[in-house]
Amino acid sequence: MNIGFLGSGHITSSIIEGIFKSKLKIKKIFISPRNKSISKKLSKRFKKVIVSNNNQQVIDRSSWVFLAVTPNVGNKILKRLSFNKSKKVISLISTININRLKKITKNRNVSRVIPLPFIGMRKGPIIICPKDNKLKNFFKHLGKVIELTSENKSKSFWATSSFMASFYNLLNETSSWLVSKGIKRNEAENYTRELFLALSEDAVNKNKISLKQLVVESQTPGGTNAFVLKELKKKKFYKVQQKVLNSIFKKF
Ligand SMILES: NC(=O)c1ccc[n+]([C@@H]2O[C@H](COP(=O)([O-])OP(=O)(O)OC[C@H]3O[C@@H](n4cnc5c(N)ncnc54)[C@H](OP(=O)(O)O)[C@@H]3O)[C@@H](O)[C@H]2O)c1
Repeated sequence: MNIGFLGSGHITSSIIEGIFKSKLKIKKIFISPRNKSISKKLSKRFKKVIVSNNNQQVIDRSSWVFLAVTPNVGNKILKRLSFNKSKKVISLISTININRLKKITKNRNVSRVIPLPFIGMRKGPIIICPKDNKLKNFFKHLGKVIELTSENKSKSFWATSSFMASFYNLLNETSSWLVSKGIKRNEAENYTRELFLALSEDAVNKNKISLKQLVVESQTPGGTNAFVLKELKKKKFYKVQQKVLNSIFKKF
């Protein structure tokens, strides 16, 4: 099968990287010429990746077309392109809903998918909406697939996927605090990365218990973990998190 990407940016690069680390059998991957330097690099690195002359050529050459442009660009370019009825359109665009996508592409075969950059390592959750066996069988090689029937629910997942920068900032603040206590930056960062990696792996390994229970089991009454949790709650750290989630949710 030939697949194509409109928009050769961050997420396209990650998906293509994941594809070539997987056992997926793809004949050719056609990508749009923008971004110029990324598309050039991708085609240099992977022989099966071909830079097309323009967006329409990507569509014409591909059975599946991934929309990997920003919402503004999508709203501008999609209506000018022609999607043959046989094409499967897979939108990665955060804020254009399926009905609008169907209208502007004049194609009924439209899905929305939420990959994350870790797809390049073939890790992380991948939301597919609506349920689609072909897409599931494709994306199961690239991460943990979660299928949704309701597009409204996918908005909630979009909101939580916006926590990447603030999560990394939590790591950054943690290691900067270590540095302020006289630890070398390098040691502080290595320690922090390993700590948060182990915590995340632990949460996945203990998936038989709820996250609420994990919170309980990771503290001794009156201990240091209990103290930090209580103080953060007192300072409304988690209430602020919920408020921010509600605010970002409105954008999707
Ligand atoms: N990054 C993520 O983790 C992630 C995850 C899930 C979904 N998404 C969604 O995927 C979409 C792309 O995100 P991204 O992070 O990959 O953004 P990005 O790195 O900015 O990529 C967007 C690409 O679109 C290209 N482009 C601009 N105008 C174009 C046109 N007229 N025709 C074709 N391509 C054009 C840009 O090229 P120039 O640089 O030349 O302008 C750029 O290469 C967004 O809608 C985003 O919400 C992203």
